[in-house]
Formats: sequence, C-alpha cells, structure tokens
Amino acid sequence: MTTPYIVLAPLLITAAAERIRSGGVVGMPTETVYGLAADALNPLAVARVFEIKNRPFFDPLIVHLSEADELPCVAKDVPEQAKALIKNFWPGPLTLVLPKTDAVPDIVTSGLPTVAVRVPDHPIARLLIKEAGTPIAAPSANLFGRVSPTTAQHVRDQLGDAVDIVLDGGPCRVGLESTIVAFDGPRACVLRLGGVTIEELERAIGSVEIQKVDPAKPQAPGNLPQHYAPRTPLVLGDRNTFTSAGKRAGLLTLGPCEAGGFATIEVLSAAGDLREAATKLYAAMRALDAADLDVILAEPVPEEGLGRAINDRLKRAANTGGA
Ligand code: TXA
Ligand code: MG
Repeated sequence: MTTPYIVLAPLLITAAAERIRSGGVVGMPTETVYGLAADALNPLAVARVFEIKNRPFFDPLIVHLSEADELPCVAKDVPEQAKALIKNFWPGPLTLVLPKTDAVPDIVTSGLPTVAVRVPDHPIARLLIKEAGTPIAAPSANLFGRVSPTTAQHVRDQLGDAVDIVLDGGPCRVGLESTIVAFDGPRACVLRLGGVTIEELERAIGSVEIQKVDPAKPQAPGNLPQHYAPRTPLVLGDRNTFTSAGKRAGLLTLGPCEAGGFATIEVLSAAGDLREAATKLYAAMRALDAADLDVILAEPVPEEGLGRAINDRLKRAANTGGA
C-alpha cells in the first residue's frame, strides 16, 4: 500500500512552488536549517520575508539554486577558488559571496554589489526551486536574532500563521547554518562558520582566512556579536566554577554528565560527537528556553571541526544576555 506521505509530498511541493511563483512566502526545509523562501527575483515577495522575520533591510539574504549550472543567472566573474569549492561542496552547506548580476534585485543583497548563493543538499528544497523555476531567497525561518529552526514545528511555533505553507522535510541533517565564504582577489575568507568545516575547506583549496568580528564595526546581523539567542539569559562557562546563587539554572553540555544543581540538562551528544551535537544544538536551546529557567549555562565544546561553529553560536547567544 502506498503511504499518504509519498502521495502527498509532490502535490504539496507543486502547491508551494505555485505560491512562490505568485509572490508568496513558504517554509522550506534544507539540510542546515529551515528557510523562509520567496522568489529571489521578485522584490515585493522578498520584502514580505523581511517583514515576517522583522529583519532589518541592511541584512542581505542568501539565494538558493537547485543546480550549480543556474549560477550565471545570479552571479558573474566566479573566481577559480570558488569554482573549486563549488565542485567539492555543492550541493551542501556552503554559501559563496560573488559579484551579482543585474537580475538580482537590490533588496536581496541590501544594495551590495555581491550576492550570497548556495545549492542546498535537500531533495525537497531542490525540487521546490526547480518547480518554482526561479532562484529562491531564503533566510533562516526564525524571528530576527532568535534561534534558527531545525524542524517544521519550530517554524510554526515561531512564525505562526504568517507563513501558510511549511514543507516538512524532517529534522535538518546538519542543524547549523551554511558556512559563508567571500573572496578578496584569490584569497578565500570565511565570513560565517557553519556546516562545512575549516578543515574541509582547507583540504579543498589550501589555507583560508577567518574574518574576525569587530564589535566596533557595523556588521551584517548574522555576524553580529549578539545573535542566535534564546530568551533566557545564557552564559558560557564551566559547571565546576558556575554558581547559580539560588537561581533556576539549566545546563547545555556536549557529553553525558551527572552535574548536580541544575533544573534541566541538555546533552548534545552522549558519544561526544560534534556532528550529532550540531544537529541538536538549536533544539536543545529551545528546550532550555521553554523550561522556565533563570539562566542557562552553556559549556564550550572542543574547538575543532563543527565544534568551532557550535562555539561561535554559543558565544553570540551569550552576548545577547536574553534581550
Ligand atoms: O544555512 C543557511 O545558510 C540558511 C539556509 C536557510 O540556507 N540560511 C541562512 O540565512 O542562514 P540567514 O539570512 O539567516 O543568514 C544569511 C547571512 C547573513 O548573515 C548575511 O549577512 C549574509 O548571509 N550575507 C548575505 N548576503 C551577503 C553578502 N552579499 N555579503 C556578505 N554577507 C552576506
Ligand atoms: Mg539566520
């Protein structure tokens, strides 16, 4: 017997693609996090995305393609380093910042002459883009500054009925946003740590720079020192030196533990596996946020592989102090 899921999915993708073509906004699964998808070539549709997310217009969006061959529609003058990265990592959690073509409206790039672009590694996202017949602009489907969604339910919980179709592609396989790489002449520079690790990038193209965040300089919000935050104040530290001083505290930690004194403990990977930890990070932040705590203590994970991106998100969540 055919399951309803198999019968329904293509119909829903067709309906969602139709919605995108007519200027609507749809919740889209990707392998990293869920996105809020709109026709990247339709400025009004893109404006609706900014409005739903409550996102400032100076924070540009990522454009998603179903295949790397569609790149010339949105980007030009692709450097050799970028070509090598495309070959190695697309489809996948890698976004490249490249000179934009005239087809890309200024609202997508916040007036920048460059466009951020990637091919997601998720069958539903790629089918949706293909059926819509247009590149899709999609930020993470959370309210501005908040924790990114890694399930369809997270999108519903945060955005309610502002989005009428959310395609459910299951929990995200990577769980952290894409790595963003820009080019300065022949040099590749990582603007955001994410699903493709520094080690993987360097195996493909040699050494890369990692952009330092300067709190004194205006930044794109995904790179603001404060971002990706739960509402509950989150502090970074070690359980052995942490004192909760009578407050209800929760613990976010990598490995299994028997720490006393915490009302709730979220373990990211009992085996201490950073890939598994990445997939669980945002759901764990949400669970702790829902546990009516005064404070969340987050313990940094080893600074290697996906651990760098996990620590990056924890630092930004801590800087917000629950604001
Ligand atoms: O994994 C992902 O990248 C997810 C999924 C949905 O694809 N998307 C995502 O989008 O994380 P968003 O909007 O939450 O983050 C996009 C980041 C922002 O920090 C923005 O500043 C940066 O990409 N960005 C976009 N265009 C840029 C450009 N032209 N130059 C530099 N940074 C850019
Ligand atoms: Mg985001």
